[in-house]
Amino acid sequence: RTINDLGDLHGKRVLIRCDFNVPLDGQTITDDGRIKAALPTLTQLTQAGAKVVVMAHLGRPKGQVNEKYSLAPVAARLGELIDADVTLAGDVVGPAAHAAVEALTPGNIVLLENVRFEPAEESKVDAEREALAAQYAQFGDVFVSDGFGVVHRKQASVYDIAKLLPSGAGHLVAKEVEVLKKLTEAPERPYVVVLGGAKVADKLSVIDNLLKVADTLIIGGGMGYTFLKAKGYEVGSSILDAEKVDVVKGYMEQAQAQGKQILIPVDTVVSPEFGEGAGIEVVDSDKIPADKMGLDIGPKTAALYAEAIKGAKTVFWNGPMGVFEMPSFAAGTKAVAQALADSDAFSVVGGGDSAAAVRQLGFADDEFGHISTGGGASLEYLEGKSLPGLDVLEGN
Ligand code: 3PG
Repeated sequence: RTINDLGDLHGKRVLIRCDFNVPLDGQTITDDGRIKAALPTLTQLTQAGAKVVVMAHLGRPKGQVNEKYSLAPVAARLGELIDADVTLAGDVVGPAAHAAVEALTPGNIVLLENVRFEPAEESKVDAEREALAAQYAQFGDVFVSDGFGVVHRKQASVYDIAKLLPSGAGHLVAKEVEVLKKLTEAPERPYVVVLGGAKVADKLSVIDNLLKVADTLIIGGGMGYTFLKAKGYEVGSSILDAEKVDVVKGYMEQAQAQGKQILIPVDTVVSPEFGEGAGIEVVDSDKIPADKMGLDIGPKTAALYAEAIKGAKTVFWNGPMGVFEMPSFAAGTKAVAQALADSDAFSVVGGGDSAAAVRQLGFADDEFGHISTGGGASLEYLEGKSLPGLDVLEGN
């Protein structure tokens, strides 16, 4: 079910879950992509004259009220982006929230404070979450689920609430699911997947699953060193997940047996320290000095990866190729982004870090087929896991 199945919403109270977990530098939002991604649904609701009550989280305050995680900067930015009044409630389900919802007029928005200020929001005890969801339910006649980035969480404002009110997916959730479904069910081939970022352990099951559907897997970023080690190379002081070397070796053998390609860096930008000091050089990946760490893929690798992307019809990319925040180690990530931007393939950039990386490196969203707002959520979808926030809508 989607928002369009919920009938005429004029004058109705619409409770909606958004993912406004945006990166902040102090009080300044450094990437407002997730707020902008919620605008199609929010605008439809305000224009329809609904009374809109938004639930969202920021960071991981772990059930404690903490000013640092207040949604105040989000409320301010949303107010600038949408033609409606946006009021931030002083609490989540307390007297301030009740007063704000009571005073809400059609076409306007109340943003409840960070739902993770409530200890029950993320509780593992069903009854605790259900009790909190019942309190949320007092604020809405219907529920719209549009926080794609959190649909993999079994939490009160994502999962339990959808059992209490007539519910439907918002446009963002519907769009994200449509795109990811295409990637899992019928990708145009060749299908190339680019995986980077630091944590190989977090991505092992997705690698396992992607090997079944993708034609080529391109590996970069911090996790690349575990692959280099699995190939038998020394990686100096690079980040390494020693425990996973054997698993990765297994994946490499499996890929070979299935006639699939796993591309790993042939050269590497190394530095004596995690920073931009003296001694930065490019070396072949089998010659990483013992006292240096790899912080980006090298130029030969970047060219090789760009070539592989050029021949693709579908590309999914998650995770930067290097420490792109530092200019000396940004070239690899930039080359991959450029290859995606130049290609005619249907390209999907998934994950908060990758989305922030492409924007920070000066690329526009419309240079890619789709920029997913989900990090963990999009990976879990591609892994083939069931996502509680989506399942509950189907059962509704
Ligand atoms: C995200 O940033 O991926 C989502 O907002 C989910 O946040 P979480 O990992 O803290 O649940």
